[in-house]
Amino acid sequence: MESVCVTGAGGYVASWVVKELLAKGYIVHGTVRDPDDEKKNGHLKKLEHANERLHLFKADLLDYVGVCTAIDGCTGVIHVAMPVPAGKVTSPQAEMLEPAITGTRNVMNACLKSKVNKVVVVSSIAAIFGNPSWPKDRPMDENCWSDAEFFMKTEKWYCVGKLISEREALEFGKKNNLNVVTVCPSIVFGPMLQSTLCTTNIILLNLFKGKNSFNLLEFDKAEEDIHIPIVDVRDCAKALLLVYEKPESEGRYLCSSHVLKTKALIEMLKNLFPNYNYPTDPCGLNEELNYTCEKIMKLGWSHRSLEETLVDSVENMKEAGLLS
Ligand SMILES: NC(=O)c1ccc[n+]([C@@H]2O[C@H](COP(=O)([O-])OP(=O)(O)OC[C@H]3O[C@@H](n4cnc5c(N)ncnc54)[C@H](OP(=O)(O)O)[C@@H]3O)[C@@H](O)[C@H]2O)c1
Repeated sequence: MESVCVTGAGGYVASWVVKELLAKGYIVHGTVRDPDDEKKNGHLKKLEHANERLHLFKADLLDYVGVCTAIDGCTGVIHVAMPVPAGKVTSPQAEMLEPAITGTRNVMNACLKSKVNKVVVVSSIAAIFGNPSWPKDRPMDENCWSDAEFFMKTEKWYCVGKLISEREALEFGKKNNLNVVTVCPSIVFGPMLQSTLCTTNIILLNLFKGKNSFNLLEFDKAEEDIHIPIVDVRDCAKALLLVYEKPESEGRYLCSSHVLKTKALIEMLKNLFPNYNYPTDPCGLNEELNYTCEKIMKLGWSHRSLEETLVDSVENMKEAGLLS
């Protein structure tokens, strides 16, 4: 049976990746920073087949030896771990850049050392969309790279970390003959398996409490009605597995299902769930979003409707006692 390592296994996206891998019969090596932290990682042990096939390894991304131990014996790696900001980043180097860039270098070196066949790195739409010089009439795709200097000037440290780590991972793959593929998801919504809220869970939950917190994701505050690109967490996990399993996958894959303006999103939520106090101040990407996910679609990816994502998210938050 093939073994795959998932970094940051207890997180929102990674937990769904672990669940999918277990369901498909893989042995999973999951890295977590504290295997004894039941609040953060207890849900992993309850996943179907976890008893037989999930092995948790204690490893911070900056602990090269720990990362090597987790990856040893695996034919594949899905590198998901990376801090996602939940407020103003005060020490960019330590909070964002070190774990993103040095952490990804550690994962890449460990993969080379263990002769891993394929590595899938989770990047972000942030590594694509921050490119002010891309022609407005041309849909953004995988050829579009964000501008690091633009991000640095505007102190978008999470975006800097995602951009540099993705670029370096692809370059590392080419230089060392390691099969590296990256996936750039948009904002991930949908049901949680974990019990600790991540940033995008907080953003969605806040919408039902009258608070617009898209700025947590380093978007600029905007007065106008702005665009939110969204993908369901289950579709995102499926995309990562698809890219991992398809021998022909190569390079980068933009992965986003829906794009709509904040006001339209709030209107949709109001129609589905009228009894909440929604925010009135839009915030998010203040530009038309013209992009295409044709590449990943051609690989065989499909996605569910936004309504299904929102309904399942809300049911899940109610079950978790987060919403009345
Ligand atoms: N959610 C989105 O909308 C979205 C969109 C695009 C891309 N992404 C990317 O998807 C990935 C997962 O994000 P998420 O939304 O699932 O967030 P999350 O739930 O906060 O997951 C982040 C994971 O990274 C781990 N991590 C952070 N710093 C680490 C370090 N120094 N060493 C080891 N592990 C570390 C965390 O471990 P602990 O539990 O120990 O803190 C956690 O498991 C990230 O790479 C993020 O950039 C997310």
